[in-house]
Order: sequence, then C-alpha cells, then structure tokens
Amino acid sequence: SVDLSAQIANMKVNNLFLNASGIHCQTEAELDDLMQEPVSGAMVTKSMTPQSRFGNPLPRYYRLANGSINSMGLPNEGFDYYMDYLKTHDQIKPVIVSVAGRSKEEDLAMLHTLQDDDSYQGLTELNLSCPNVIGEPQMAYDFPAANDLLKEVFSFYKKPLGIKLPPYFDLVHFDQIAELLNQYPLSHVNTINSIGNGLWIDVNSETVVLKPKGGFGGVGGSMVLPTALANVRGLRQRLNPSIKIIGTGGVTNGRDAFAHILCGAEMVSIGTQLYEEGLGAFERVTRELTDIMEAKGYELLADFRGKLKVIE
Ligand code: DOR
Repeated sequence: SVDLSAQIANMKVNNLFLNASGIHCQTEAELDDLMQEPVSGAMVTKSMTPQSRFGNPLPRYYRLANGSINSMGLPNEGFDYYMDYLKTHDQIKPVIVSVAGRSKEEDLAMLHTLQDDDSYQGLTELNLSCPNVIGEPQMAYDFPAANDLLKEVFSFYKKPLGIKLPPYFDLVHFDQIAELLNQYPLSHVNTINSIGNGLWIDVNSETVVLKPKGGFGGVGGSMVLPTALANVRGLRQRLNPSIKIIGTGGVTNGRDAFAHILCGAEMVSIGTQLYEEGLGAFERVTRELTDIMEAKGYELLADFRGKLKVIE
C-alpha cells in the first residue's frame, strides 16, 4: 500500500494529482465534474480575469501527434463567478484559485478581494505566464516587472500564494528567477505553463492550425516533458525549501509523474492528457504511479521526491 499524500501551505491532499489550469475547469458543470472525480486530490480553476472573457477566435486548440497547441486567450466566466462557485459548493477537495489579470492593476484588484474575504482561506495561484493574450507579454519573462508586482502583492497579501511560471531555457534564467522568487513567502511555484508561441502547420493546405496570432500558440503534452522536468529540477535545486513545486507538463502516465516527483514535485498536474482522455486519466495515472512505487518498494512520495541521481 502506498501513500500519495502531499501538502502545500494549509492545503493537504491524499492524492498528488490535479488538473492543469485551463483543463475542464471553466464552467460550474466542469468544476463539479472535477470536484466529484474520486481520485484527484485537488483542483484548480481556469485562470480568471476580473470580467468574463470569450477569449480568442476559433479554432484555438489543435491536437498534435505528441501533444497540443493552444491559443485560448483566457476564456473564463469572470472573478465573481468563481468566488460565487466556492461559496455555494461543498469543497470535497481543495480548489486552487488561478488569477491572471491582464495588467498589474487587475492582478492587484483580484488579490485584494481575496485577501479581504474572510470566508476564503484557500490557495491562490497567480498566473504570470499566459502566452496567448494578444498584446500582453508573459510577465514572468520580464524579471523587473515581475519583481515590482510581487513586491506590491506581498505588501498586503497574507494568504497562501503561488505563481504559475513559464518554462525557462537557460540556467542563468533559472538562477535569476529563483533569486527573485526566494525573496517572497510563496507557497509554491507551478511549472511549467505551455511553451509559448510555437507554430504548427498543415502542410497539405499550407495553412496554420490556429486562428489567433497568425497561428502561434502554447505547446503542451508529452513533447514538452523534458522542458517541464528540467524546470521542476532546476527550480527545486534553487528555490527555498519552503516554496513547494507543482510539476506540470507532459504527464501522460505514471512514469512521467514519477519523473516529475524525482525532480522535486510536491504535486503533479495533468493537462493535455486530461483533455484528450477525460477525467479517467486520474485513476489510470494514479494506478500506474502506485504500481511503480510498489515495484520499487516505496511507500511515500518523500521516499524518492527530489532524489534524482546524476552520473558522477
Ligand atoms: O497555454 C495556456 N493557455 N496558458 C495559459 O496560461 C492560458 C491559456 C489560454 O487561455 O490561452
């Protein structure tokens, strides 16, 4: 028997898996499905903006042989809708609130409301890495801007708060983002968001596959697993131990999840695979991870978390 429990700040879960934000978490019906799904330990909302948004024009998601490309553009029902959801639904499992304002002012406004709401004690995640809002750069690639925002956020925000990061590709950037984040009492980082601004082409028609942004979109799924593992590992080696990591990116099976945990992930989310397979992915991937742990004689995630071996 294995124990898949994990903890981030005040959030304790008996299973380390959750959806990746954006997957099956926009509407009340979708959130209800995640809430009632019997295996996953937590769930996260679609990244919300102060007002509801339709998002980008369609087509805006495309399945690739080894993953996906998307340019959704933050379609969501608006901040109040999700706050209302939390107040009117039993939380059988913890719900992480993902916020993604289109400006510093929008982020601060939503975080002020969360801070001032005594009935809200959950975990919040600030998405600084959406690649798909037209005209909005990914703030986590602009270190001074990200630092300005976090300085202001932590001047008033006292509840558990994490950050959703984009992938980094240079070890100097790992050093720089970790040094910046280590200044703040973050509950966690969630790494990675999709690899921004990829491009896929249908060669028969000689045409892009997504309408927004001339076809550019965020890449996810198994093809991003190496980038995701590198980011979990590189940040786990650099961040304060108090900052937990949610590993996201390229998880399609129990082995992928095991690899994320070896790199240091406290919890693991499933994105493209969840979208393509449906909510049954949680039960399957959990069973596969459990089988690997049993075969290796591990009882706890802590038995191997972060214990990746290197070649001496
Ligand atoms: O790949 C993504 N798509 N990442 C985000 O953060 C937002 C989402 C979207 O709505 O475009």
